[in-house]
Formats: sequence, structure tokens, C-alpha cells
Amino acid sequence: MTNILVIESSAGGDASVTKLLVGEALAGLLAANPAANVTRHDLGLNPVPHVTAENLAGLRGEPVTAAEKATRALSDKLVAELKAADVILVGAPMYNFGVSTVLRSWFDHVLRAGLTFTYSEAGPKGLLEGKHAIVIEARGGLYSEGPAKEIDFQEPYLRQLFGFIGVTDVTFVHAEKIGYGPDARAAAIDGAKATLAAITAVAA
Ligand SMILES: Cc1cc2nc3c(=O)[nH]c(=O)nc-3n(C[C@H](O)[C@H](O)[C@H](O)COP(=O)(O)O)c2cc1C
Repeated sequence: MTNILVIESSAGGDASVTKLLVGEALAGLLAANPAANVTRHDLGLNPVPHVTAENLAGLRGEPVTAAEKATRALSDKLVAELKAADVILVGAPMYNFGVSTVLRSWFDHVLRAGLTFTYSEAGPKGLLEGKHAIVIEARGGLYSEGPAKEIDFQEPYLRQLFGFIGVTDVTFVHAEKIGYGPDARAAAIDGAKATLAAITAVAA
């Protein structure tokens, strides 16, 4: 059975472009594979806690306190979901040229030495294999081309994070110029929907 892991990371609620497009993409994936199993996290509503001095040892080190043990348990659960996933569908708003802090926090919990990557003489090696990630990026401006391309710290960063754990098959779908007015917003959404329809028909 195909396992689909959905990670949403917008704080935008009903007005969120990525939420709309993730819904569209998920419907397409399920149409192509009705028996798929879906695990879903809306980090904008239910964030994974940020790493602090109180919980760090849950991720790196030996958990001792209740907070550290709770963090270890959550991280183990999130890693298990990721390992089980065949398709990872991510809604990623651009916040201040990068990813939202809640999405970064999810990555903090799933990049675990010995579980999703390992260090060797040859350097770090990702331990996940055979997964396809679809990352939907919404931006107020235009970054996929033109003068702002070099300040897009979102897409290269996400490519690095996924690649580091072995997820190298990543398809990025853009909805850009969301802040340029209603017509530009509608055109961006329509364009992303058309791209997603083609991708999801063969992805699951
Ligand atoms: C805190 C915050 C920071 C943002 N930073 C940027 C930015 O650096 N560049 C940009 O083009 N748009 C930026 N935006 C606009 C969002 O990328 C845009 O509204 C996008 O649609 C957000 O995704 P969502 O609709 O799924 O929430 C920002 C929005 C917020 C709320």
C-alpha cells in the first residue's frame, strides 16, 4: 500500500495558498491511488515544539527529564512516519526568504543520526531511499526567475534538508507573486493546480 505523508506549515488558515494546493495535490494522489494511507500534520495549527535547552537531549543525547523523554518519543514517531512514507507532500510558505519556523522544527525532529542519516569516513550519508517528495512553495514575490532568484533561501535549503537524509527525488511546485494582487494570485494558483494535476496523476 502507498503511504502518503502530508506536512503543512502555513499559519495562514483558510486564506493559505499552500493549504489549498496541498488539498488539491492530495486529492489527485488519492484519485490515482484510492487505497493509499494518509498521515497528515498541520504544523500551523499543531506545531512541533521548537528545540530548546529543556528538550534538546531528546533529539541529541540521552533523554533524562520528562520533557526530554517526550521529545524523544515525538521524534521517534515522526521519523517512523517519514520512513514509512512513499510520497511526502509538503506545503511550504516562504517566510522571510526561507521556510516557516514550524517546518524547520519538523526537520529538527526527523534529521537524526543513525536513523535518517549517518556519518562515515566519506562524509554524511542519507539513510532514506525510494521516496518522492512534492514540495509546494508559495511566495509573495517572484524567486524562480529574475533578480530575486539569488535570495531564494527556501528551495535550496529544502533540497539540502531532504537530500541530506536521502530524499533526492524532490519536485518543487511554485505559486509565486501571491502578493501582487488578486489576478496574479489567481493565475499563480491556477498554474500550480495544472502542474500538480500532471504530477500527482503519476506520483502515487
Ligand atoms: C511572516 C511572513 C513572512 C513572509 N516573507 C516573505 C518573503 O520573504 N518573501 C515573499 O515573497 N513572501 C513572503 N511572505 C508572503 C508569503 O510567502 C505568501 O503570503 C504565501 O502565500 C504564504 O503561503 P500561505 O498562503 O500558504 O500561507 C511572508 C509572509 C509571512 C506571513
